[in-house]
Amino acid sequence: MNKIPVPEHIKKLVPYPPGKPIEELKRELGIDKIIKLASNENPLGPSPKALEAMKKAVEKVNRYPDGSAFYLKEKLSSKLRVKQDNLILGNGSNEIIELVFRTFYQPGDNVVSAEITFAVYPIIAQAIGAEYRAAPMKDLRYDVERLKELVDDRTRLVFISNPNNPTGTYITTEEFEFLIKSVPETTLVILDEAYFEFVDRKDYPDGLKFFEKYPNLLVMRTFSKTYGLAGLRIGYGVGSGDVVDYLNRVRQPFNVNLVAQEAALAALDDEEYVEKVKTLTHNSLKWFYSEVEKMGLEYVPSVTNFFLIKVGEGKKVFEELLKKGVIVRSMDGYKLPEYIRVNIGTEEENEFFIRSLREVLGK
Ligand SMILES: Cc1ncc(COP(=O)(O)O)c(C=O)c1O
Repeated sequence: MNKIPVPEHIKKLVPYPPGKPIEELKRELGIDKIIKLASNENPLGPSPKALEAMKKAVEKVNRYPDGSAFYLKEKLSSKLRVKQDNLILGNGSNEIIELVFRTFYQPGDNVVSAEITFAVYPIIAQAIGAEYRAAPMKDLRYDVERLKELVDDRTRLVFISNPNNPTGTYITTEEFEFLIKSVPETTLVILDEAYFEFVDRKDYPDGLKFFEKYPNLLVMRTFSKTYGLAGLRIGYGVGSGDVVDYLNRVRQPFNVNLVAQEAALAALDDEEYVEKVKTLTHNSLKWFYSEVEKMGLEYVPSVTNFFLIKVGEGKKVFEELLKKGVIVRSMDGYKLPEYIRVNIGTEEENEFFIRSLREVLGK
């Protein structure tokens, strides 16, 4: 045992639950087909254009990546109609979450978000020793009034997952504006739009329309979901020039790897692929709803590529599904023990999931 003192908040830290590798599960369970609908990933694989770019890029990995991500920033800036100085790239948007803590948090500050939201916010808050305040939800949606009540002049960061993981719900433009107007100018609001491209609602706020008006707003997006590049780890943030400037000072110089930069560049050109992903997602969700309704189960309607189903004993259903080779997410860690979270797979995977769920529930 080493004698290095470990801070109390680190001792109490519970790591983000990693899934087992699929190959390992196959071996353990003695089955050869496993489908994973547990991490809100894209089931279609990367776009063919991105794949092509990656193959070429691997030949250059004896070189460090371009630390300024010049070409990717150039393309993102013209596509999103923002200045390059407003862009920060990250090793996944997860890294940007960590960066905002490392950049802006000071001892005594607190952080506000919702009770049932992306697990990484409280994990990083705890890792850094920050006070994390979780506002109760209303009908499994962020309740902006309750969030507002928790904010004070020492609230440095407010995290909004929109759409929200794991509930699949969203806050409207009106709710978003209410919240950002009600926090002090010294509070950075992080609008996490990891699932932005899936949403098809008129009253859903596009964060990029607001960051110029509110210099204390940072919008985050990722290539992990609609663009199918989760394994490469690349995401970005858009915010006011000085927020981005400070984040850039803190980040590691080569935080976004060379293959990821090239793949993201190519993926941005593949609009056909993104459309295909969105169509599959919307059609599959509708199909899932009708199948779940036929089983007489309740579910939470979602605007993104995953949704919650109320199955009774979520953990048990999760375990039974696992035995059949279907990996979903049990929600007991999120204080929703009656639910499982499932993301959209390929049509074949979706059918396999529904068949397995029927068997498990005896429906
Ligand atoms: C709300 C939310 N934000 C961020 C992320 C992380 O994305 P990335 O892969 O870019 O780190 C996820 C991934 O599941 C997510 O659900």
